[in-house]
Amino acid sequence: MSYHRLVILTGAGISAESGVPTFRADDGLWMGHRVEDVATPEAFARDPAVVQDFYNQRRRQLSTVHPNAAHQALAELAARWEGDFLLVTQNVDDLHDRAHAAVPPAPGFQLIHMHGELLKACCTRTGRVCDWPGDLAAAEPSPHHPQGRLRPHIVWFGEMPLSLDRIEAALARCDLFVAIGTSGAVWPAAGFVQLARRAGARTMEINLEPTPGRRLFDEGVYGPATETVPAFVAGLNV
Ligand code: APR
Repeated sequence: MSYHRLVILTGAGISAESGVPTFRADDGLWMGHRVEDVATPEAFARDPAVVQDFYNQRRRQLSTVHPNAAHQALAELAARWEGDFLLVTQNVDDLHDRAHAAVPPAPGFQLIHMHGELLKACCTRTGRVCDWPGDLAAAEPSPHHPQGRLRPHIVWFGEMPLSLDRIEAALARCDLFVAIGTSGAVWPAAGFVQLARRAGARTMEINLEPTPGRRLFDEGVYGPATETVPAFVAGLNV
């Protein structure tokens, strides 16, 4: 079977072997914090220093990690894929971006960071987004508005994910949908498999272990992403 319109959704599991921690640890804490203390607009309004510091640490950590064999395999696939290929990541790291920069993608490829990007900041007044590789101060002035502040360009709980219309349009016409390294615990990404099924696509989950949503997928492949993703790409024969 050959496919022409591919959508791949990635989550924290694809970056785990690069050394970026996943979200849902057994203790229910997120790198030592309660989600509502660091990843909501209310937390930022209440205590911007704590929230900025949390993301400053995540941003600094990016300089210590590198794309792994799973990111690289998807970048090689993007270079060879002749149809449409939308890669949607929930990850705010830049590991996909770095992998694709090393192997330029074919024209039908697009990458969407639906939960934002650590290396960007956003003006609280205008919503304008700019590159921001360094730390953000608690009340970082915005270059875009005299009363604006800069916040991390991260979609927090209670906020709308980015580019949903483009993602849903691609899901509505895809013929292969693959979810890699995501627990399926966070909506709307957790519902993408159902949109792909409605389009008649073949659906596949690639994860360390079966997720609670396993029955929604036609096929499941389990093991570390650095092994399963290169094998999946090789199996596509493109
Ligand atoms: N290879 C493959 N899968 C792995 C690996 C690995 N080496 N290590 C962990 N996993 C799997 C886990 O078994 C789990 O199912 O990756 C999944 C990671 O799940 P989560 O930590 O819940 O991350 P994710 O699904 O990306 O979270 C979605 O939640 O907090 C928010 O905005 C945040 O984007 C994030 C969203």
